[in-house]
Amino acid sequence: MGEIDPVSLLEPAATRVRDPVSGKSVWLAQMVRRPRVEDGTLKFDLVFGTDHTKQDRTDIQAMVVQNLKALGVDDVQPFARLETPRPGPSGKPAGPPVRGMDQGAMAPHGGPIHKRSIPGVKHIVAVASGKGGVGKSTVATNLAVGLKQFGLNVGLMDADVYGPSLPTMMNVHSKPVVNKEKRIQPVQAHGVSCLSIGLVVDPEEAIIWRGPMIMGLLRQFIQDTDWGELDYLIVDLPPGTGDAQLSLIQAVPLAGAVIVTTPQDIALADAVRGITMFRKLDVPLLGLVENMAYYPLPDGTRDYVFGQDGGKNAAEKYGTELLAEVPLQTAVRRAGDDGTPAVLGTDPVAHTFSHIAKRITEKLPV
Ligand SMILES: Nc1ncnc2c1ncn2[C@@H]1O[C@H](COP(=O)(O)OP(=O)(O)O)[C@@H](O)[C@H]1O
Ligand SMILES: [Mg+2]
Repeated sequence: MGEIDPVSLLEPAATRVRDPVSGKSVWLAQMVRRPRVEDGTLKFDLVFGTDHTKQDRTDIQAMVVQNLKALGVDDVQPFARLETPRPGPSGKPAGPPVRGMDQGAMAPHGGPIHKRSIPGVKHIVAVASGKGGVGKSTVATNLAVGLKQFGLNVGLMDADVYGPSLPTMMNVHSKPVVNKEKRIQPVQAHGVSCLSIGLVVDPEEAIIWRGPMIMGLLRQFIQDTDWGELDYLIVDLPPGTGDAQLSLIQAVPLAGAVIVTTPQDIALADAVRGITMFRKLDVPLLGLVENMAYYPLPDGTRDYVFGQDGGKNAAEKYGTELLAEVPLQTAVRRAGDDGTPAVLGTDPVAHTFSHIAKRITEKLPV
């Protein structure tokens, strides 16, 4: 195939493969380099960025090769390589950065943050949502207390600076004590070690805090707190996919993330952004919780107030588990307002929350 122009084969083959990172075709994203024919073999470089997962790399390469075969080219040899990360803002190479933080624009406070584990804590699980008001804190508190009911050691860290709800939902109002070694002692509630921005600063004040101050406080929650021996530390993340979320996700080694959404399209679109963020940062998705999935009517039927099957479809589409469909009901709201999470109550919804906790123990065994 000496006379064949390699570009005329590679262009159609690579144009038909979508690059999940840039959203463009592999050809337009300029991932195919140095097309050449040597000894009858079509060779080319396939260049990936640090945002590509191993799976992305395998899939893209396989699809390009398959498309070339469909064009009648059997002798193909791709050379996959990783483009070296750009230097950090200081001009020096930034060392092994946390994935997704290797572009200058994403390093908010002077370079990549390196993950620090919390001694004694086995699994850190984030509860996240694309937007506020979907029941993230409701799920986080019930998950924490549900795990406690299985006899596990659990901590709950409320990192949602925009609406810390742990104090209300867990009924804790005492300020955490700082001991002689300047280490923060979490407050106990329902057998769970709790810490919330709402316990430390006036929520109205926290809202006007600048990013670095918030991060400073959260860093203390992570590094300067005596969490003790925990099987699970549940982290109630601020909603959205902004700077605060990124910094936090990168400051701790998360074992996984649970995404909370309502069935409504808009909430789901936000949830998808959350899924994409965790994927990019290499945090495993533990599953989706569809909250306010339906309103149970007295005759036993269901009113799908915010639409039906949104969570199920999204879970299927993104290859993750739908952990639960939590109904919209007074018992849940009242339990939250009373500071006694619904998982402790007698309403059947307690089983729904308990099931989420059980799935987490199965996915992240201790
Ligand atoms: N399934 C539900 N049924 C009834 N009320 C709910 C349900 N889930 C959450 N709520 C209520 O909705 C409000 C917002 O929930 P919250 O968990 O604080 O959301 P987020 O943390 O995502 O902002 C709270 O008052 C909560 O009690
Ligand atoms: Mg909340």
